[in-house]
Amino acid sequence: MTLRIALIGTGAVGRGILEAMSRKDLGIVLTGVADSRSGLIHPDGLAPADLLHRKRETGLVGDLSCTAHDVVFNAPYDVLVEVSPTDAQSGEPATTYMRTALSRGCHVVTSNKGPVALHYHDLKEEADKAGVSFRFEATVAGAIPILHTLLESLGGNEIHALYGVLNGTCNYILTRMAEEGLSYKQALDEARALGYAEADPTYDVKGIDAAIKLVILANTVWNRRITLHNIDITGIDLLTEEAIRLAEEQDATIRLIGEIIPAKNLYRLSPRIIPRHHPLVVHGSLNAIIVRTDLAGDLVFSGKGAGSLETASAVLGDILSIRDRYAGGH
Ligand code: HSE
Repeated sequence: MTLRIALIGTGAVGRGILEAMSRKDLGIVLTGVADSRSGLIHPDGLAPADLLHRKRETGLVGDLSCTAHDVVFNAPYDVLVEVSPTDAQSGEPATTYMRTALSRGCHVVTSNKGPVALHYHDLKEEADKAGVSFRFEATVAGAIPILHTLLESLGGNEIHALYGVLNGTCNYILTRMAEEGLSYKQALDEARALGYAEADPTYDVKGIDAAIKLVILANTVWNRRITLHNIDITGIDLLTEEAIRLAEEQDATIRLIGEIIPAKNLYRLSPRIIPRHHPLVVHGSLNAIIVRTDLAGDLVFSGKGAGSLETASAVLGDILSIRDRYAGGH
């Protein structure tokens, strides 16, 4: 079965999806695409490589006469792939796009954290009513399939606690400052140039991005109904170069750690001094997660937490699992 997708957003994640689709035949046809200013609809399929070229050359993926709204409402697709930048306050316009797709009986796959953090339970209910899937693996920990693992592979476990490095940008900054002596600003500029940071990088450095991921984990894995207000958040924006140097002198380092201990209703994100050889001390844009379970014991995961192809990997996994599930495959 060939699955038709419409892609909203051509930032780092959207371009990664187009790049992967241009490199290999994934059995997916792209029938619509849009960025913030332009769009294209083509029921027979658009060529991902041509779209990438056009975006690079003109800054626009499509025509000014077509908008994201037109694509969401009118393009023929089976899956809406929403990968536009996160708005943590309103979740818009992405939430409206997702609701529209669900009401059209289409599946939704997203890397957009705002709508999932704000409206997970409602969107899931709408998807269930419509008999379609709502998937968002890419919203947490980039390439690491942590949601699938916690919700499905570890489904028979009680998850007692989760500790994690959940923001690639902050981890990259902390690593570059400690290991190369870069200033905070130099390291942040590099993280932005590499496509790790959010469109608004204050989301990263103030800890909002990682805290949103804690909200998504709590609400999906533990079925809670928390918001950003329930998270005790300290970012890395006020951390000094001196503090990092002092930690390094004690054979330790600083990492921005998220914690969930559901039995205590503890949801916290803060920079922590940890021994240099601790499993959560990963480098560059890596993320790392430890989960503590009743049956499986402790598990450690690590992998690229940000980046264009890495995040696209998680989005594509969701799309292909929908294709297999609804085609009656494995
Ligand atoms: N800006 C995010 C990060 C992207 O640096 O982790 C992935 O969610």
